[in-house]
Amino acid sequence: MSALSQTTTAPPHAGVTDRPHDADSDRPRIGIIVGSTRPVRIGRQIADAVADVVADLTRDEFSGVTPVILDLREIALPFLDEPAPPSSGERTLPHSRAWSEAISEVDGCVFVTAEYNGGYPAPLKNAIDFLKDEWADLPGSIVSYGGAGGTSAAAQLRTVLTRLRVDLAEVDSAIRVRSRHYGEDRTLLNAAEVVAESTASLRSAVGWVSERAQVRAEERGSAHAQAD
Ligand SMILES: Cc1cc2nc3c(=O)[nH]c(=O)nc-3n(C[C@H](O)[C@H](O)[C@H](O)COP(=O)(O)O)c2cc1C
Repeated sequence: MSALSQTTTAPPHAGVTDRPHDADSDRPRIGIIVGSTRPVRIGRQIADAVADVVADLTRDEFSGVTPVILDLREIALPFLDEPAPPSSGERTLPHSRAWSEAISEVDGCVFVTAEYNGGYPAPLKNAIDFLKDEWADLPGSIVSYGGAGGTSAAAQLRTVLTRLRVDLAEVDSAIRVRSRHYGEDRTLLNAAEVVAESTASLRSAVGWVSERAQVRAEERGSAHAQAD
């Protein structure tokens, strides 16, 4: 199903999907960034399965967070085309503003990344580079996937996100995808099963983000209350 075709409580921006059954406007929102954009890909399947883990954590351990899929294929940013560097804070183009707002509206982020030739996908780097202060102190964790879990991509991504002062969980989650997991159409036969093999590390990584996101949302709430 297209990220845009689902009913949402408050459709904020193209490619940003609050899953209807999880949506609750009062809960902290965890953005799950789909870092691969190929026409036939597994990134969205992995991200949806990760969103299910976030939702399960909410039911089991947390008072509530809402997973929000941020699908870079749907968001469709061009190559960075702002005239001023992102550190200027100037967001003059509609797509930059929308992306900036989408990230500003989440309380934490899970970066779901494929591994391409030992690195993470170019569209993910581009999307990261569009912003600057929006990333600072944002709770985050890295979920990589690939034949060996995508750990080289995760290491590179960690270097970049650390530079941007994302408040990263110490341990990444690496999902091993084997050839038997793929169907003839080159998508996953059963994403939940693939992700389930890494449930422990995944719960730890997204659990950390959920916990920090709740603290951040509470701090934000009390800052707003004081300002009123
Ligand atoms: C350009 C390209 C490079 C790849 N390089 C790697 C790699 O370095 N390590 C790896 O484990 N898999 C690699 N693969 C295989 C991917 O893990 C696999 O295609 C996966 O489905 C990619 O994620 P996506 O479908 O979300 O794009 C590569 C795939 C592509 C398309």
